[in-house]
Amino acid sequence: MRIDVVTLFPELFDTFLATSFVGRGVTGGQLEVRRMSPRDHGLGRHKSVDDTPYGGGSGMVMRVDVLVTCFEALDAEAAAAGQPKAHRVLLTPQGRPFTQARAQALAARPAIMLVCGRYEGFDDRVRSFVDEEISLGDFVMTGGEVAAMAIIEATVRLLPGVLGNAESTREESHGDDGLLEYPQYTRPADFRGLGVPEVLSSGHHAVIAKWRHEQALMRTEARRPDLLVRREAGGSKRNLGDT
Ligand SMILES: C[S@@+](CC[C@H](N)C(=O)[O-])C[C@H]1O[C@@H](n2cnc3c(N)ncnc32)[C@H](O)[C@@H]1O
Repeated sequence: MRIDVVTLFPELFDTFLATSFVGRGVTGGQLEVRRMSPRDHGLGRHKSVDDTPYGGGSGMVMRVDVLVTCFEALDAEAAAAGQPKAHRVLLTPQGRPFTQARAQALAARPAIMLVCGRYEGFDDRVRSFVDEEISLGDFVMTGGEVAAMAIIEATVRLLPGVLGNAESTREESHGDDGLLEYPQYTRPADFRGLGVPEVLSSGHHAVIAKWRHEQALMRTEARRPDLLVRREAGGSKRNLGDT
């Protein structure tokens, strides 16, 4: 998979892209990340990428012409290398909230482009040049870079061969069964009076599996009853309501 990131701060991704499983994905060839700064296509002596808003108001707005030049330059590079055009994703607090189902949909694509805003956001006409808009949640950050990293992490770990154990992406919260994960424990067996449920040391795999399923149901009911409602509405096939 290829991920193109449009960002005014490409250097923010240096350590992120070289660390842990994302780094292994890059060195292992499952993931290629290209970064491009709108500044590379900025206007005039100052390589300007933003301007004051029509109608007045505080802050600066990212220019549509500079951004679209960036998108097209990345597409042209991909075409020259015989690679597919990227599915363009605008990162914005006004987008559809990011979910595991969105991560799965993005992971199935050969190439995506993540467009990070700064300042007061984008000239609205940029929306005519992207395929979808994604929000990390109902809060506002100063830039799209952290959202891009969150999306890269959630997406790349779903690519075949990136995580050592594929089961770990199936049997976790927001996985195929639409439940939150059951409680997990490791050593020590006792920590300041807090023990580990006996059933987990019983060695009975079927009994442990049943206990875990019950715990996952109880935990989901207590913390995220909305997930159970969605699960019942859509069969047991996870929270696909927002694919
Ligand atoms: C300060 S925000 C602009 C917010 C914009 N003025 C608004 O009210 O919708 C600057 C940039 O940060 C990014 N950003 C902020 N919050 C985000 C969120 N919840 N999800 C995704 N991107 C976000 C976007 O790329 C956005 O263009």
